[in-house]
Amino acid sequence: MNILILGSGGREHAYAWKLAQSKRIGKLFIAPGNAGTASVGTNIQLSVTDFEGIKKFVLENGISMVVVGPEDPLVKGVHDFFLADAQLKSIPVIGPQKDGAQLEGSKDFSKRFMFRHNIPTAKYETFTKETLNEGLKFLETLQPPYVLKADGLAAGKGVVIPETLEEARKELSEMLANAKFGNASAKVVIEEFLKGIELSVFVLTDGNSYKILPAAKDYKRIGVGDTGLNTGGMGAVSPVPFADDAFIKKVEERVIIPTINGLKKEGITYKGFIFIGLMNVDGDPQVIEYNVRMGDPETEVVLPRIKSDLLDLFEGVANGNLHEKTFEVDTRFATTVMLVAGGYPEEYKKGDVISGTETVMGSIAFHAGTIHSHSGEVLTNGGRVMAITSFGNTMQEALKNSFANAEKISYAGKYYRSDIGKDLEVYYK
Ligand code: AMP
Ligand code: GLY
Repeated sequence: MNILILGSGGREHAYAWKLAQSKRIGKLFIAPGNAGTASVGTNIQLSVTDFEGIKKFVLENGISMVVVGPEDPLVKGVHDFFLADAQLKSIPVIGPQKDGAQLEGSKDFSKRFMFRHNIPTAKYETFTKETLNEGLKFLETLQPPYVLKADGLAAGKGVVIPETLEEARKELSEMLANAKFGNASAKVVIEEFLKGIELSVFVLTDGNSYKILPAAKDYKRIGVGDTGLNTGGMGAVSPVPFADDAFIKKVEERVIIPTINGLKKEGITYKGFIFIGLMNVDGDPQVIEYNVRMGDPETEVVLPRIKSDLLDLFEGVANGNLHEKTFEVDTRFATTVMLVAGGYPEEYKKGDVISGTETVMGSIAFHAGTIHSHSGEVLTNGGRVMAITSFGNTMQEALKNSFANAEKISYAGKYYRSDIGKDLEVYYK
């Protein structure tokens, strides 16, 4: 089977690395990919939203499945584009259609969906430019801190959590009246702040049955001790100590089953991943957000723990017989530490030479923002550069490997968080 993966991050390198191990894989292509995906497949210079270009490539190269990494092409309707085309419609796409992708593409849609299906989530109200004054009044009824979310996709920057009422009022005005996030903040969701520990649960579904994948915890802030600006994710750990069987059972009964049934009831055919961002509030799960794809860097710890053939699971999604598939999970701990460019998530440089990757031992270096130069060197090409994933019989052992190998890689301005997993150590004492 020839497969095309869309995307260029650490997540897509992890997909490519895992799919390349399948017995049934034929040719593996990644568009546009990075220097890491080039070592397990063939990179294609195509944008993930160039649907006509993707069509041409798929038809010319006998592609029999497309795996979509990021949310953007899903929200823009890549799956719908395939279904609407006589030549493409029999080629399965792993990832929801536009209607299902609204779970991530519109915070207002996802909140309304959760309320319709009694899925536990923070109380909220949605405001527009026309109802800015009501929004300002609503803020006064809440306790700080305040949670303001741009409705649409805002490259991971659309959630703002001001500490004071004054800042919250200013932020709301900027989002609605001054279009701080462009069209994405034409609507703003204001919600109650949830206090607890975050984790992510991943589900793969064919629209009827589902598989719950290993849970992971992500580290979003740039600075040690979870301080500073939000990033795409600075590291991840799986399993999550407090996400034991009893907790996951609550997630399944209160969130996963109502979500799958809700989608079905609303006539939304959903084939792909559902990433459920949760807050563990005193032992009870509350949904913070849905994403319609896997997380990055969570994928870099979740997929290595799946021992079974990922292509087999994807075929179950495509053919609607996921219920017949089984999969096995590695009981060891997996951790990943993200190496980023100096200055990220603000301005940063690209094009710095990366060395030392070949000396990595006992870890997997999943490339994110990397590219080959004409002379074959590996250069930095993004804010998040590489995710160093390791296994261990304990979380500490896995982290030790990730940090040791992180030290072996060099490029100008390299930075990583040295405290990934630190907050979880109390659970293992
Ligand atoms: P998102 O960009 O939707 O992933 O949200 C960014 C971050 O904001 C989340 O990872 C949470 O840490 C935080 N957050 C979002 N909603 C809430 C909430 N209702 N209460 C507390 N924190 C939240
Ligand atoms: N790591 C969080 C995300 O992928 O959205």
